[in-house]
Amino acid sequence: MPKHVLAKIISQKEIKKGCFRMRVKAPYVARTASAGQFLHIRCGDSTNPLLRRPISIHRKGADYAEILYNVVGKGTDILSRKKAGDKLDIIGPLGSGFKVYKNDRSIRMLVAGGMGVAPLLGLGEELSRSIKGKKRFIVILGAKTQKHVLCESEFRKLGAEVYVATEDGSKGKKALATELSRDIIKSGKYKRQEVCIYAAGPMPMARALCRMMQRCSPESQISLEERMACGLGACLGCVIDTQSGYKRVCKDGPVFALREVAFK
Ligand SMILES: Cc1cc2nc3c(=O)[nH]c(=O)nc-3n(C[C@H](O)[C@H](O)[C@H](O)COP(=O)(O)OP(=O)(O)OC[C@H]3O[C@@H](n4cnc5c(N)ncnc54)[C@H](O)[C@@H]3O)c2cc1C
Ligand code: FES
Repeated sequence: MPKHVLAKIISQKEIKKGCFRMRVKAPYVARTASAGQFLHIRCGDSTNPLLRRPISIHRKGADYAEILYNVVGKGTDILSRKKAGDKLDIIGPLGSGFKVYKNDRSIRMLVAGGMGVAPLLGLGEELSRSIKGKKRFIVILGAKTQKHVLCESEFRKLGAEVYVATEDGSKGKKALATELSRDIIKSGKYKRQEVCIYAAGPMPMARALCRMMQRCSPESQISLEERMACGLGACLGCVIDTQSGYKRVCKDGPVFALREVAFK
């Protein structure tokens, strides 16, 4: 069950230009959230902006949760001006997160497009705790340029095999995250049906990935982004079409089975 709380900001740091990591004291979220769920945040103290903004839970600790976000508009700009000690009005954890199946044959491949990396680091931490033995997981980080690559060292510390794709080729392969993941699967190093995709990124990436990866493990999942209003499943403002009918991204998702998502 989500809770509405005024959480104390523990820290806020600009880790790359325009990209902030904020830690808030939120024991309930820390205790109950799973990777892929999100917080609905009231960014300002006035009614402008009126609507809360959905931001993924990036990581969590014993009594705190972290978010990682880019400043793209009014809400995130106000958020970026908050300081340690300020209070943050949050509702969460919301939505349904990634499911980690105990399938020893699976090769887990995390595919992050841009800020899609935010929920995937928390998932990586969960995987590194739950996968025993030598089996690691693969991470594909897609970004515009070298300057936009996020969380690479954090994933390496977790023991992940990390590949980077940049749109301008300034780091890693000059490709989109989707193209690089397809190339790795096509190389034959892994059996396609054993590759379990966990993806998050902007809608165009989600569309491409759903087309490319339908023959991967049926346990493959993707986190989708839609503009949201209530965030609680009531207004139907975030509905998408799926193989089993219309679904609300905020309540039925944001994480869906890859095979369930039907993009026309
Ligand atoms: C479930 C979920 C999890 C998210 N997690 C994160 C996260 O971890 N980190 C992060 O940086 N962002 C995340 N987002 C996107 C984030 O919600 C938007 O960037 C934010 O709401 C923008 O608010 P704003 O007031 O700053 O910008 P606005 O002024 O509202 O919009 C600025 C620009 O961003 C676009 N935009 C706004 N909201 C969305 C959206 N939901 N999807 C796609 N484009 C949008 C607008 O079309 C516009 O071009 C997530 C979105 C969803 C739905
Ligand atoms: S935002 Fe209201 S139903 Fe999803």
